[in-house]
Amino acid sequence: MKKSSITLIAGFAFLMMSFGLPEGDKTPWEIPDEYKNMENPYKGDKGLDRIGKMLYAKNCKSCHGNKGEADGPRAKQIDVPMFDLSSEDFQAAYNDGEIYYMSIIGRDEMPNFESKIPDDEDRWAVVNYIRSLKK
Ligand code: HEC
Repeated sequence: MKKSSITLIAGFAFLMMSFGLPEGDKTPWEIPDEYKNMENPYKGDKGLDRIGKMLYAKNCKSCHGNKGEADGPRAKQIDVPMFDLSSEDFQAAYNDGEIYYMSIIGRDEMPNFESKIPDDEDRWAVVNYIRSLKK
């Protein structure tokens, strides 16, 4: 085989790989150790239930849906697959520090909430609320 046709086949295979990602597949979250190892100082703090629910309704529900099932009205315009936050799989896969990172720092289509939710107690209230969505 000529070198040029090998390059062509390799190039084609690469294109297929980049456009042919199966539905539901997405790049794994890369979460820095500093977040992975973070303890939730408000774990089990029932006093934060109301504020967590309120902040979720205000900032997250439009995409993630009422119960975290990725069925909010804005979810339709989003191409990236979103996990069902209420599923056992999601709840088991990530610890509180990781959920904090994904929720507050975000990436790409998942907005950053550092300035919208500046207070650390409020941030953990949202994390606790996500925990409460577990089916
Ligand atoms: C504009 C729509 C939008 C809003 C608003 C939004 N998210 Fe997201 N969120 C996403 C998308 C899209 C992803 C998936 C991003 C990815 O995988 O790159 C995501 C991912 C996540 C994840 C990780 C699970 C996953 O599917 O990867 C968590 C946890 C999360 N969001 C929490 C929140 C919280 C908490 C709020 C509110 C403070 C919020 N999100 C607001 C769109 C949104």
